[in-house]
Amino acid sequence: MSARDAMLAKFRDRKAGFSLEREFYCDPDYYQADLENIWYRDWLFVGHDCELPKSGSYLTVQVGDYPIVVVRDAQKNIRAFHNSCRHRGSRICSAAKGTAAKLVCPYHQWTYELDGRLLFARDMGPDFKPAEFGLKPVHCETVGGYVFVSLAEQPLSFQPVRALIEPYLAPHRLGEAKVAFEMTIVEKGNWKLTWENNRECYHCAGSHPELCRTYPEAPGATGVDGHDDPETKEHWDRCEAAGLPSKFTMHASGQFRTARMPLLRDAVSYTMSGKAAVRRPLSDTVTAPKIGTMMFFHYPTTWNHVLGDHAVSFRVLPKGPTETEVTTKWLVHKDAVEGVDYSLDEMTKVWIATNDQDRRIIEENQIGILSPAYRPGPYSELHEGGVIQFVDWYCRFMGERLRGERTPHLAEVA
Ligand code: FES
Ligand SMILES: [Fe+2]
Repeated sequence: MSARDAMLAKFRDRKAGFSLEREFYCDPDYYQADLENIWYRDWLFVGHDCELPKSGSYLTVQVGDYPIVVVRDAQKNIRAFHNSCRHRGSRICSAAKGTAAKLVCPYHQWTYELDGRLLFARDMGPDFKPAEFGLKPVHCETVGGYVFVSLAEQPLSFQPVRALIEPYLAPHRLGEAKVAFEMTIVEKGNWKLTWENNRECYHCAGSHPELCRTYPEAPGATGVDGHDDPETKEHWDRCEAAGLPSKFTMHASGQFRTARMPLLRDAVSYTMSGKAAVRRPLSDTVTAPKIGTMMFFHYPTTWNHVLGDHAVSFRVLPKGPTETEVTTKWLVHKDAVEGVDYSLDEMTKVWIATNDQDRRIIEENQIGILSPAYRPGPYSELHEGGVIQFVDWYCRFMGERLRGERTPHLAEVA
């Protein structure tokens, strides 16, 4: 039986509210199906516009088999290209980030303009037509300081993503922020285990002493919508009166969501004390106190916390059937000065510790699932509503795509 048919059979027979069968977390053919049907088709968060401050600034990312370069062109537009030379295919930019006047292939120096046009190729003969050998573009969109790409030839419309997340992000002006610190870790686990772990806080009390000082482990904060909780409702009303969209809003597709949630007690930031880590607010226009954390996620690449004093973005990229890369970035006001307005250690301590704790959890989860004795187990409806939502999303999206159906609520661009 092909992996496609096996996956479809498992979706049909799946016990709702249970974790997935073993193959979904480790089988190379299932992993390839995930790449082809989700990672090569959906919008993927790759980085922030503020990481590309001027013409020629670029960043690179590897999505499955595809190396991609994202660059700011001479007109200041952000564009993305397949990072593969049109001569004999060499990767052109190999650094994670950099600045270049032109994109020059290191192999034989074919030279591309920042808009992808081939400018120069030495001794290619009189019939050679440079116009036919520009870099192949990758669809690219920016919203609220976030750069997304889609590898699909005909991508899904980005409009639903923009419509939902732009109003939540706009007041925080992340497009004008700066990345104060970033780190990348590799988790030896399937990308879905990274997400399952992220979408619940059932594990928080037992694993995250630092995070639990400020982040509520109550299920409403992570998984379900929290409409019934009076404290959350008061928080939303107060923040919305201050001009900050806040209510829990899940897109009909189940792929992305925003919600501004309160932190514990008087906490305003993810620090050991709960006090702000950055003296200068992230945005000059957000002055309301105690705005909590604006959390948005977009499957399969990103979850985020936007606070009053800084923001933390997370980017997930699959590296193999049982290996996932997670990049965390801490953003502050562009004029905030390290050592004066903030201490890096104070700002990053909680999430560096939390990320490492989560990495260990995910790796142990993967090892246990690799056992032939593993069987799908039941999620807690109370605490793991977010995981159930993620797994249902995954099974529905994959099922539709493997059957060749359109994705409801998300139209392709004509
Ligand atoms: S492969 Fe790029 S110049 Fe030859
Ligand atoms: Fe965790």
